Amino acid sequence: MSQNTGLMKVLGPILGLETSCDETAAAIYDGQHGLRAHVLHSQAAMHAEYGGVVPELAARDHVGRIQALVAAVLKQAGLHAADLDGIAYTAGPGLIGALLVGGAFAAGLAQSLDLPLIPIHHLEGHLLAPMLESPRPEFPFVALLVSGGHTMLARVDGVGQYEILGETLDDAAGEAFDKTAKALGLPYPGGPELAKLAARGNSGVFRFARPMTDRPGLDFSFSGLKTAVLTQLKPDFDDQAKADLARAFEEAVTDTLAIKCERALDATGLSSLIVAGGVGANRRLRERLKLATDRRRAALYFPRPEFCTDNAAMIAYAGWARLSAGESARGLPARARWPLQELRAPGVADPAVPV
Ligand code: KG4
Ligand code: ZN
Repeated sequence: MSQNTGLMKVLGPILGLETSCDETAAAIYDGQHGLRAHVLHSQAAMHAEYGGVVPELAARDHVGRIQALVAAVLKQAGLHAADLDGIAYTAGPGLIGALLVGGAFAAGLAQSLDLPLIPIHHLEGHLLAPMLESPRPEFPFVALLVSGGHTMLARVDGVGQYEILGETLDDAAGEAFDKTAKALGLPYPGGPELAKLAARGNSGVFRFARPMTDRPGLDFSFSGLKTAVLTQLKPDFDDQAKADLARAFEEAVTDTLAIKCERALDATGLSSLIVAGGVGANRRLRERLKLATDRRRAALYFPRPEFCTDNAAMIAYAGWARLSAGESARGLPARARWPLQELRAPGVADPAVPV
């Protein structure tokens, strides 16, 4: 329970819920102990036979699992619902039916326990995920956010203070991994499978251009790269040839991302880079960025791989950060689309969010 110190509220545990896509997750974070517990159920196997996420199935599965996951995370943390000081949930962007499950569950629980309800932007969760690790990055920093739905470079000055420096003009990096993996005959979800195949591939057998690195700017484009792979892929390719192709694709994507990260550090004059989102779990990207940041004596921060992909720990943390910085409870219906630029620092009125 919260204690009123007279000066500022010391927050107890915050429950975070994530249901924006195909992971149902719950986590508990507090300022004193950090992350207390986190649990997750991935629907990946359920969607695999369809080759991608089926929104209706995703929403139904969240309904069937969320209550048990919340019970499990409380048990793992050794807490009761009455010990909570707030509830944060992913309000968008994402699949609308899936978001509504988490939002409705969070609202019901918050109402019954008389707790503040904090809607969280899924990408803010990803951007703040490195805060779950030690050492933590300090603001300001450059963030590379590379997920299945988004690829962007942002300058982060604080919670809710995000300036987008560059974005993909077409496919997200994760989407390019997934589509290329599908073309190579790999199972869904393709990103990690392609990375495994690429690890057996030889460098230099194929080579692809690094898109948009030949001109100034921080935007990305990955759809041409995917097409270039399809053009090279022949029906008689054996496993090794496919691995060589996967290797060249992975090198082109990770090289491109690293080149743009270096440019973003130059353009902002900042010396900290954080990487977030599912593609941040990619080993080659991590190695490539380590080299780039070591060379310029910049600091590099990653969440552990399980906090790169969707999870509730980042949502619980974002909720805790906003509540402890003075944000009041808000009622936000789920938003399938929600531009990151619309976010405001805690306590600053956000036109999109009814108080
Ligand atoms: O952040 P995330 O879990 O979900 C979204 O919000 O999109 O990111 C999922 C994306 C997928 O496209 C997946 O294929 C990709 O991240 N991914 C990877 C790896 N692990 C996940 N891509 C490349 N290498 C990996 N090791
Ligand atoms: Zn995500």
